Amino acid sequence: PFTAKCLKSGITVEVDEGQSLLQALLDADIPMDYSCEGGVCGTCVVPLVSGEVEHMDEFLMDDEHADQLITCVSRGEGEIEIDV
Ligand code: FES
Repeated sequence: PFTAKCLKSGITVEVDEGQSLLQALLDADIPMDYSCEGGVCGTCVVPLVSGEVEHMDEFLMDDEHADQLITCVSRGEGEIEIDV
């Protein structure tokens, strides 16, 4: 599990093992666009502000992983901050 602080909405979500960050955001009523839910279309991208992330998408370039995160497949470690 990991924690995502959502800076724009002021909400903090807990993401369990069996759940995607995207799903946790939707469950918290944060409006999210998404499509493939498989890490390939890029629709569910969010700005990454801080924290360690295990990137598992096939959409972003390596250098884009510094400040972006694909929420349907990638996971944080500990606590991360995203700008949604
Ligand atoms: Fe397609 Fe996340 S919904 S990459």
